[in-house]
Amino acid sequence: MARLSVNVDHVATLREARRISEPDPVTAAAIVELAGADGIIVHLREDRRHIKDRDLRLLKQTVKSKLNLEMASTEEMIRIALEVKPDMATLVPEKREELTTEGGLDVNMNREIIKNSVALLKDGEIVVSLFVDPDIDQITAAHRVGADYVEIHTGTFCDAKDRIEEEKELDRILTAVKMAGELKLGINAGHGLNYLNIKRLTGINEIEEFSIGHSIISRALFVGLDQAVREMIALINN
Ligand code: PXP
Repeated sequence: MARLSVNVDHVATLREARRISEPDPVTAAAIVELAGADGIIVHLREDRRHIKDRDLRLLKQTVKSKLNLEMASTEEMIRIALEVKPDMATLVPEKREELTTEGGLDVNMNREIIKNSVALLKDGEIVVSLFVDPDIDQITAAHRVGADYVEIHTGTFCDAKDRIEEEKELDRILTAVKMAGELKLGINAGHGLNYLNIKRLTGINEIEEFSIGHSIISRALFVGLDQAVREMIALINN
């Protein structure tokens, strides 16, 4: 059965709308864990637009399951990761102007920088994942630079306009999963997953963990965070 890790960035986004102290993503993380999730994810962005250094440090002290830090492959972020020591670091591309992460890393184009970051993080005993599109070249490159895991970007699948496009994207995901499995990479998947489209991916046994944020936090506004997490876990387990 795949695990669920929940991204709590959106709780911090709401807090930052007022620049006050609530809602607190650290409190949210505790509720998410009590509801049965297997991990907490935060993205510490260069511009600190939602998650702050304080959140990350407190989460390191309080998360009992697994803390996954999404981060750009920069000197500053590597330094912070090595100080805080999350259980996993997921390297993502980052652009200031984007609303959310817009695509996977181009591991081939940035091979030397990423290889260096992976080595530094692994030396710090942090498990390293690379967020990549479902593209066999990127999966192969992730293996070459020494990553432990890939997180397959499911955004294009989730945004598919019709069934034909959805099938095509699902096919790309399946091919990427197969390649990652052959290369003995761990496999996570995420971005854009919700209570409807998750059902198409839960049958892919090689996916160890789903990384989900927006849909769970959105549902939590109406049914509460505990129930929103439990409902997603039930869908994944079915
Ligand atoms: N995985 C990565 C690498 C992400 O950047 C995000 C968004 O923060 C997610 C998963 C979660 O995506 P969503 O919020 O659409 O569920």
